[in-house]
Amino acid sequence: MGDSLGRNDERAPGGAGGMRAGVQRRSFLKGAMGLGVAGLAVGTMTEGAARAVTDGDPADSRSFPFHGFHQAGIDRPPPTRAQPTAGFVSFDVTVADRRELADLLRALTDRARFLTSGGAPLNISPRDNDLLGASVVPDGLTVTAAVGASLFDDRYGLASRKPVQLKTMEAFEHDDLDEAECHGDLLLQLCADHRDVLAHALVDIMAHTSGALRPRWRADGFVNPPRPSGTPRDMLGFKDGIANPDTGDARQMNELVWAQPRTEEPAWAAGGTYQAVRMVRFFIEKWNKVAIGHQERIIGRRKVTGAPMYGTDEGQDPVYTNDPQGRLTPLDAHIRLANPQTPETAATSAILRRSYQFDRTLDPAGVADMGHVFCCFQRELHTYIAMQTRLESEPLVEYISPFGGGYFFVLPGVRNNRDHYASGLLAT
Ligand code: HEM
Repeated sequence: MGDSLGRNDERAPGGAGGMRAGVQRRSFLKGAMGLGVAGLAVGTMTEGAARAVTDGDPADSRSFPFHGFHQAGIDRPPPTRAQPTAGFVSFDVTVADRRELADLLRALTDRARFLTSGGAPLNISPRDNDLLGASVVPDGLTVTAAVGASLFDDRYGLASRKPVQLKTMEAFEHDDLDEAECHGDLLLQLCADHRDVLAHALVDIMAHTSGALRPRWRADGFVNPPRPSGTPRDMLGFKDGIANPDTGDARQMNELVWAQPRTEEPAWAAGGTYQAVRMVRFFIEKWNKVAIGHQERIIGRRKVTGAPMYGTDEGQDPVYTNDPQGRLTPLDAHIRLANPQTPETAATSAILRRSYQFDRTLDPAGVADMGHVFCCFQRELHTYIAMQTRLESEPLVEYISPFGGGYFFVLPGVRNNRDHYASGLLAT
């Protein structure tokens, strides 16, 4: 077992760290060498095989392009056409050195490229588990890879290449963080149209990375269908995800989300973005005892329609110019603290939210363990931190409890068949 695995053993949190603790680094190297060949073959052979399998192809086989300047899985279409199921899986990397790290990221790229475009698996060892039938359906799958601050420690000589604002998430005032559900070297965000496709992708990725990724925590989530229409509701019953940057507007996305070239960020980071993930438990029973009018003042929007407090439709924008005292929309309402619409907060009031809900069953006392996998992307991590700091004084804190997650930097997109995740970061 290599040195780095030993070091990771120490860093790994109690429960999650034990999941793959016995896996040997050597087995990945062996697998990775095989993959170098198999991976290339996958790129060329599955296309043909996929065309051959037409009869069994399900109708629901849309795919998002894997190659691009940015990774997929961030600028999704409007909520009603969203990929409604997601898994956020955080790993510690156990490979020994930078060369092996590059092997790992190549292997991961090969799998993500194949799984997101679909086709017949080659079934050179390890073989596919046939969960999706003879041909893997893309099913709107995206595999979005992001790195945590810990990857830039002394293991791989990457310290000087760290995105300038990337750091380990610290607890905010009202957090109740469980270290076993926080941080990680590498985060994979898998989103798809159906749950089986996510499960298949995760099993496939684990099989092909042979123990080089040690699971740290995982958060699964879903997007509710619109009830009755428009933006889907969160587990508090409010329409959630209304006010967001327009992902179809390249100017807005460049200004608010994508890291830009020729900035203080390292050159390799252009096209990536900072990601904050926060698992937040909701105290649903307590919330349900609050009168709806009061709930609306806590959030700052109407519950049934999602409209601003003075409005009738979720499409109307909240405006506070005629309400400086907060009589209609309280000054500490969630949306007003998140985006106070003041000159002082203008630079820290816009992020791209892409959150999912979770429902992890009832606890032994019959209490719902439900909440939000809050996920957002922003060009500057400082924007999220400033916004979250303002939200520490919102009345909503009594009804929620953040317990996990972390800060990550989403790698720039994989450009073409010869490229791989983090090629810029790892270039010598
Ligand atoms: C985890 C519990 C949370 C719940 C239940 C929640 C719920 C909501 C709801 C119902 C809205 C109004 C509808 C909409 O515009 O989407 C909203 C808006 C918003 N939330 Fe949250 N949210 C949560 C956490 C957060 C966090 C952690 C942040 C950022 C630090 C955040 C930032 C925002 C922003 C920026 C808006 C839009 C504000 C505007 O411009 O009008 N939310 N949220």
